[in-house]
Amino acid sequence: MNKLDVLLGLQWGDEGKGKVVDYLTPRYELISRFQGGPNAGHTLEFNGIKHVLHTIPSGIFHEQKTNLIGNGVVLDPSVFKKEIQSLLELNVEVYKRLKISKKTHLILPTHKMLDAASELAKGKDKIGSTLRGIGPTYMDKTGRNGLRIGDILSNNFMDKYNSLKEKHLALLSRFDFDTSDLSNQETSWFEGIELIKNFDLIDSENYINKEIRNGKKVLAEGAQGSLLDIDFGSYPFVTSSNTISAGACTGLGVAPNRIGEVIGIFKAYCTRVGSGPFPTELHDDTGEELRKKGSEFGATTGRPRRCGWIDLPALRYSIQINGVTSLAIMKVDVLSGFDEIKACTHYELNGERLDFIPYDLSDENLKPVYKSFKGWDEEVWNIQDPEQLPTELLEYLDFLEAELETPINIVSFGPDRTQTLLKNVNAAV
Ligand code: GDP
Ligand code: IMO
Ligand code: MG
Repeated sequence: MNKLDVLLGLQWGDEGKGKVVDYLTPRYELISRFQGGPNAGHTLEFNGIKHVLHTIPSGIFHEQKTNLIGNGVVLDPSVFKKEIQSLLELNVEVYKRLKISKKTHLILPTHKMLDAASELAKGKDKIGSTLRGIGPTYMDKTGRNGLRIGDILSNNFMDKYNSLKEKHLALLSRFDFDTSDLSNQETSWFEGIELIKNFDLIDSENYINKEIRNGKKVLAEGAQGSLLDIDFGSYPFVTSSNTISAGACTGLGVAPNRIGEVIGIFKAYCTRVGSGPFPTELHDDTGEELRKKGSEFGATTGRPRRCGWIDLPALRYSIQINGVTSLAIMKVDVLSGFDEIKACTHYELNGERLDFIPYDLSDENLKPVYKSFKGWDEEVWNIQDPEQLPTELLEYLDFLEAELETPINIVSFGPDRTQTLLKNVNAAV
C-alpha cells in the first residue's frame, strides 16, 4: 500500500525540521503541513540564501514539487501575504507550487489580541506564546466558531467575519485590552484574504489521498515539537495542536494505516523557547556557549532559546508516541570544542528510576542522571562521508542509537542544505 511519510520534531521545536524537509524534498512529490501556523519558523539555507518559512511548507523552493497547507493548519492572511511577497522576490513560482485546504482555519487580528490579553492576564505564569493568535484560533475551531479558508469564497463572508470579531471585542473589553490598532491590522489582513483567492483552494483530503493512491511520494512536515503537543507535551506549557504523527492523520485526512516512515528530528543537545519545565536546562557558562555556538535565537520571535543537554527519557517518550522509524540528528557541529558532553540517560524521582518523562516534569524532586562523554576538537562543517566524523562523535551516535533503539539515518552538521549526511545510504529516508 502506498503511504504518507511524516517528519516531525521530537523536542521542544526548532530542531531543524525546515532544513531536513528541504533536503529530502527531491525524494518526494508533495510536501504538506498538517498543524500549527505562524508560530513556526522553519529555516532553510542554500546557495547563500537564508529563508524562514512560517506557514508555507519547506518544499516550496523546489521546481516541479507541490506544497499543501492542510486542514489542521491555522493561517494568518497578513503573515501569509508577507511570506508570499518575499518568495515572489526570489522568483519562486508560488501560485504553481502551493495549494491550500478549504478547511484550514483563519487567524483573525482579534485572535492575536486575545492571545496577548490572555498572556498578560496570566502574568508570571504565562505560556510564553509566540503571540501569533494560535491558542485562540484553535479554541474557536474546537468551540465551533471558527472561520475557514473556504468561507472567504462565500457571499456572507463579511457577516461571518464581523460576527466573530464582535464576540472577540466583547471578550477583549473584559480584559481591558487596547484594540485601537485593529483597523490598521485589518487592512493588511484583508489584503491577505484577496491574495489567498489567487491560490488553488481545494478539498485537500480528497487530493492528498488520490496522490497517495496514485503512488506519488508524499511527506508531511510537522511544526513545533512532540514536547509541545497539546495532549502529550509539558501541559499547560504547550501549543494548541497535536504536533505528533497522529496529528498528520487528522490534519490532512489521511488514515492511520496509510502512515509510512516517521522521521524524528532532534538536536544533539536540547533547547526550549518560552516558559515551562526543562529538566536538563543549563544555567551556566556551558548553556551560554551552546546558545552562542548554536545561534540559539528564535526564528519567529528572536527570543534567546534556553539550552541544555540532550534528554533521552524525553526522546524515548517522543519516539514511542510518534512511532518513529528513523532519526535525524541535528547540529552535531555545535558540540565541537566542548571538553565534555553529557546525555541525560534517565531521571530519578524519590529513589525510583524513570526511563520516560513523568506526568509532572516540574516536580522539584525530579533529578536528571547524566552520562559523560569525552568531547572532540575537530570542526565537522566540511565532512563528505560518515567515516570522516571524529571517533568520539561516532561513539556518541552509536550510544544514542542503542539507547533510543532507532537508527540515526541523517546527520546534520551545519545550517546549509549541503551540510547533511545520509549515515545509512540504504535507508528509506
Ligand atoms: P525548525 O523550526 O525545526 O525548522 O528549526 P529552526 O529553523 O527554528 O531552527 C533551527 C536553526 O538551526 C536554524 O537557524 C537552522 O538554520 C539551524 N540549523 C539547522 N541544522 C543545523 C546544523 O546542523 N548545524 C547548525 N549549526 N545549524 C543548523
Ligand atoms: P517550530 O515549528 C519552538 C512555543 C512557544 C511557547 C509555546 C506556545 O519553529 O519548531 P504558541 O504561540 O504556539 O501558543 O506558543 O510553544 N512554540 C515554539 N517553540 N518552535 C516552534 O515552532 C514553536 N511554536 C510554538 O515558544 O512556549
Ligand atoms: Mg523554528
